[in-house]
Amino acid sequence: MPSNQQLFERAQRVIPGGVNSPVRAFRAVGGTPRFITRAQGAYFWDSEGQRYIDYIGSWGPMILGHGHPAVLEAVQRAAADGFSFGAPTEREIELAEAIIAQVPSVEQVRLVSSGTEAAMSAIRLARGATGRPKLIKFEGCYHGHADALLVKAGSGLATFGHPTSAGVPPEVVQHTVVLEYNNLAQLEAAFAEHGRELACVMIEPIAGNMNFVRTDVGFMRRLRELCTAHGALLVFDEVMTGFRVALGGAQSVYARAIPGFKPDISVFGKVIGGGMPLAAFGSTRDIMQQLAPLGPVYQAGTLSGNPVATACGLATLREITQPGFYDALAARTRSLVEGLVGAARDAGVPMVGDSEGGMFGFFFADRLPQHYGAVMATDKERFNRFFHGLLERGVYLAPALYEAGFVSAAHTADDVAATVAAARAAL
Ligand SMILES: Cc1ncc(COP(=O)(O)O)c(C=O)c1O
Repeated sequence: MPSNQQLFERAQRVIPGGVNSPVRAFRAVGGTPRFITRAQGAYFWDSEGQRYIDYIGSWGPMILGHGHPAVLEAVQRAAADGFSFGAPTEREIELAEAIIAQVPSVEQVRLVSSGTEAAMSAIRLARGATGRPKLIKFEGCYHGHADALLVKAGSGLATFGHPTSAGVPPEVVQHTVVLEYNNLAQLEAAFAEHGRELACVMIEPIAGNMNFVRTDVGFMRRLRELCTAHGALLVFDEVMTGFRVALGGAQSVYARAIPGFKPDISVFGKVIGGGMPLAAFGSTRDIMQQLAPLGPVYQAGTLSGNPVATACGLATLREITQPGFYDALAARTRSLVEGLVGAARDAGVPMVGDSEGGMFGFFFADRLPQHYGAVMATDKERFNRFFHGLLERGVYLAPALYEAGFVSAAHTADDVAATVAAARAAL
């Protein structure tokens, strides 16, 4: 079998950087990416036959672990009936019904093929429904790679953001205001200045693209009030948190703390496709009816609602709606974070961690960061050494300190114990 290094060299000849999504290239941590050949349950194997306990789960979708028998069977059956029709199917209705049943803020959904597409379409919908141009996003939140969202903060609130990617003209991000996560004063000031022109505020309610940072409850409460008062739509990007931190997503977590809390538009991906290319955005019937073919907001997709992907998503949702599923997943995830933090404490290394449902994060720091700047100020060199220390010992964490981790229902107490033992040795 070819080595990881041989495959990486070959890949770099024909694929830019050798990967089809940048973080897979291990640029943040250094070293050779592992080329995966197969996966089962909580594990995957690389081309050299090395087994890893998998804590990325395809960056979130694999909440049941790999190769769950019921999901596999559903996918095989669907594939035998046809890969794609470009005409409607009953399974799309079933998946829409299954999503709506768990998320009270959503009355209708549109299925798409990636989180990027869903977030981009949600913004177009918000702009179309309000007739307003501007949006607020938060530094450190990632909503996919649509042009208007590849933006970092300008020098002050009066200035708009700067593109973070070449190929995005400044004019394209001129309506995007970028604020610090959890910064109430900035939020108030931004609404005071732009409130009447704001179509929406898009937020990762529990941010998984700056490791794991929660929106403070007081901040979320005020954000909701400000959006309502100014007629701006609150868009929850639950691509990562949806059906992952709880069955009702992060919005159900905030609704427990803030009575009656609901976002206006929700964006889903990852878990709802169970590992297949599938995502969705949804809202109230009134707002969703702005979309083509009923309304003036155009949105479409050749593979949207793909029959194999919807079979995979539906079979996954069927498993995760079993009673007790999230309690067990959350307990397992908490035990992992407690184990890692305990191992660090015993080694005299500062570490803090947090989790919700099957999503977790940890930082080499004394206290949990509240925003992107604080995340990036944590000890990167130590994270990178720790990452490689665990990788050598058969544990695969996300290869960058600003990424969240994921536990699946297939991870056992023994897997967690083996991970913590590896962490002790590495620390
Ligand atoms: C919160 C969030 N939104 C959107 C996206 C984009 O999704 P995709 O990679 O499917 O385009 C991601 C991807 O990781 C994400 O984490």
